[in-house]
Amino acid sequence: MKVLVIGSGAREHALCRSLSLDPDITALYCAPGNAGIAEVAELHQVDALDGKAVAALAGDLEADLVVVGPEAPLVAGVADAVREAGIPVFGPSGEAAQLEGSKAFAKDVMAAAGVPTARSYVCTTAAEVAEALDAFGAPYVVKDDGLAAGKGVVVTSDLDAAKAHAAACERVVIEEFLDGPEVSLFAITDGRTVVPLQPAQDFKRALDGDEGPNTGGMGAYSPLPWADPKLVEEVLQTVLRPTVDEMRRRGTPFSGLLYAGLAITSRGMRVIEFNARFGDPETQVVLARLRTPLAGVLLAAANGTLADLEPLRWSEDAAVTVVVASHNYPGTPRTGDPITGLDEVAAEDAPHAYVLHAGTKRDGDAVVSAGGRVLSVTATGEDLAGARERAYRAVDRIRLDGSQHRTDIAARAAGA
Ligand code: AMP
Ligand code: GLY
Repeated sequence: MKVLVIGSGAREHALCRSLSLDPDITALYCAPGNAGIAEVAELHQVDALDGKAVAALAGDLEADLVVVGPEAPLVAGVADAVREAGIPVFGPSGEAAQLEGSKAFAKDVMAAAGVPTARSYVCTTAAEVAEALDAFGAPYVVKDDGLAAGKGVVVTSDLDAAKAHAAACERVVIEEFLDGPEVSLFAITDGRTVVPLQPAQDFKRALDGDEGPNTGGMGAYSPLPWADPKLVEEVLQTVLRPTVDEMRRRGTPFSGLLYAGLAITSRGMRVIEFNARFGDPETQVVLARLRTPLAGVLLAAANGTLADLEPLRWSEDAAVTVVVASHNYPGTPRTGDPITGLDEVAAEDAPHAYVLHAGTKRDGDAVVSAGGRVLSVTATGEDLAGARERAYRAVDRIRLDGSQHRTDIAARAAGA
């Protein structure tokens, strides 16, 4: 099978790594990719937001499957263009990707499907905003309605800051604050059958102890030793299946990856958000534990044959990933700094620890930073403590001037 992956982050590197280990793969392509992905896939240039260009590239490469990684191309309808060209694609239509593209749309679907989520108001004027903030009280949760690369949400007890964020957005969703730990649960679906993956936890804040601003994600781990063993089944029954059924009922079936961001609150599990694609960095740890070869699973979702798939097989190992970010991330990051120590990780720590690239590119013989999140250093171990130790040992070998990473990824769950 020939597969083309669209995207250039650590998530796409994780997808390409798993696909490269799949015996069914005869050719693996990625566009646009990055310096790390180039080691496992042949890179091609394409405007990832241009559906016609992606479909044309897939046709030229005779791809049997296109996997669209990030949300922006999905919301822009790239999967539709590939599907119209007669090529199987893993990823929802533009209409179905509105589950991620519009928080207000997602709330509407959840209400129709009876999915538990935070109570909320959609507001477009300052008066509506003031009223909604007053109704819920502090801490305030203000979400930009549209896509914002994980940075559109402000959670604050400062009323003026909440109002200022709302004023900077065209349309916002204001909702009740959800307490309790967060879980990311992904499911692969063909629009009818829903196959949940293993849960993971993401660390969204920039600094240790969950301090600092929200980011795209600074690390993740799986499994969750503290979670109720029945959690996956509960989310399947009360969130994933009802949502997939409701999307089909509306005539906009959702196929691809449905990402449920959940809060385990004192009053039960609630959906914080949906995403229409694999999460980053959670994918790095979930795929590290998946034993079933990936290509056949993604192709079955694309072709509508998930019901025939054997149950997924999982490793007993734990996995941890630590994101190494540029100086000043999540603000405007500094880029172009050389990254060293990658060879040492490959020589000393593989195969249990490895470096997945996000914002990197080649500059002559060097690999240099090219984005906010630069690397996602991933490791497996018999338990979380072992995986953590390996991940941080590898992080310590890497040198990137001005870089930052959290030192407490999976610490509490590992009992560290
Ligand atoms: P979102 O983009 O909707 O996932 O929000 C980003 C992050 O903001 C989430 O991962 C949570 O940490 C936080 N957040 C979002 N909604 C809420 C909420 N209703 N209550 C508490 N925290 C929230
Ligand atoms: N890890 C958060 C996200 O992928 O949106």
